[in-house]
Amino acid sequence: MTEEAIDVVVVGSCMTDLVSQAPRLPKAGETIHGHKFFIGFGGKGANQCIQAARLGAKTTMVCKVGKDFFGDNYIQNFKDNGVNTDFVGQASDAATGAASIIVNNAGENAIVIVAGANMLLGSEELHKALPAIGHAKVLVCQLEISPQTSLQALRMAQENKVKTIFNPAPAIPDLDTDFYRASDVFCCNESEAELLTASPVSNLEEAHRAGQELLRRGCSSVIITLGPQGCVVVETQGSPSKHVQTTAVKSVDTTGAGDSFIGALAFYMAHYPSMPLEEMARRANQVAGLSVQTVGTQTSYPFKKDLPAELF
Ligand SMILES: Nc1ncnc2c1ncn2[C@@H]1O[C@H](COP(=O)(O)OP(=O)(O)OP(=O)(O)O)[C@@H](O)[C@H]1O
Ligand SMILES: *[C@@H]1O[C@H](CO)[C@@H](O)[C@H](O)[C@H]1NC(C)=O
Repeated sequence: MTEEAIDVVVVGSCMTDLVSQAPRLPKAGETIHGHKFFIGFGGKGANQCIQAARLGAKTTMVCKVGKDFFGDNYIQNFKDNGVNTDFVGQASDAATGAASIIVNNAGENAIVIVAGANMLLGSEELHKALPAIGHAKVLVCQLEISPQTSLQALRMAQENKVKTIFNPAPAIPDLDTDFYRASDVFCCNESEAELLTASPVSNLEEAHRAGQELLRRGCSSVIITLGPQGCVVVETQGSPSKHVQTTAVKSVDTTGAGDSFIGALAFYMAHYPSMPLEEMARRANQVAGLSVQTVGTQTSYPFKKDLPAELF
C-alpha cells in the first residue's frame, strides 16, 4: 500500500466511549438506574483521522487497540470510513482504550479513562509504519499516547520532510520543548494554551499573546481555537497574529469539535499545500462549526458532500 501517496497519517489514540445517561451521578458504593446507554467511537487521534478521511483525504492510522471486541469493532469503524488500517496493531496484553462516561440531567459528567493499549504504541510500531509516515504529506499527533512516541513520530516526519501538526491535548504543563521545534503547526484550545504558557487565555488579546509565546518556543506556526469565536493564527514571530472569525452557531454538542477542526486542517494542508494557513483555518472553522450542530463525536463529523463546494 505504502508506495502510493498518502495524504494524512495520524499517530495517536483510539478510545471506545461507553456512555450512560442517568438523572444524577452515583455516589461511592451506590447503584442507580440510568435511562440511556450508547457506545461511541472516540479518542483524539482516531477522531482527527476520521474527519480528514470524511473530507476526502487518503488517511492511514497508526495506533494500538486490544485483541478484544472493542478493538475489532474499532478496526471495522476505520474501514467503514476508508481509513487504512495496515498499522493498527492489536495488543494481547491490554484492552482497547475506554472512556466510561456518566452524564446527568444537568449535562454534567463523570469520566474514567483507561488508556490501555494506547500506551503500548511505541518505537517498534513506528518503525514498522515508517514507509507510511515517510511518504505522507501531513502527520498529526496528540498526547493521548505515550508522549515519547508522539515526539518520535513528529521527528520521523520532519526527517522525511513531512509537514507536522501537533495537538498538545490533553495538555501537560512541562511539555518537552522539543515538541515545539517538531511542530509545523502547533494547534491547541484556550485551556491548553493557558496551561502551557502559565498565563490566562480568556480573551482575544490574551490568545494573541499566548500564540506569540508558543511561537517563541520554536514552532513554525500556532493556531489557538476559540470555540464560537473561531481561532487565532500566529505565523512569523513579531508579525501580527490574525483572528480568523467564524459564524457562531447554537451548539447542540461540542464534543470533539477541536478534533474536527484539526482533522480538517490536516486535509487542507495535504490537499492545498500552498494555501495560506489563515484560509485553511477559515475553512476548518466551517467544518468544525457544522460538527457542533449534531450530537455525538464522530457521528457529528461532516462528509465532503455535506459541505459547500467552495470549501474544496
Ligand atoms: N458555537 C460554535 N459556533 C461555531 N463554531 C464553533 C462553535 N464551537 C466550536 N466551533 C468550532 O470548533 C472549533 C474548535 O472549538 P473549541 O475551541 O471549543 O475546541 P475544543 O475546546 O478543543 O473542543 P472540544 O473540547 O469541545 O472538542 C472552533 O475553532 C470553531 O471553529
Ligand atoms: C480544551 O480541550 C480539552 C481536551 O483536550 C478539554 O478538556 C477542554 O475543556 C477544552 N477547553 C476549552 C476551553 O474548550
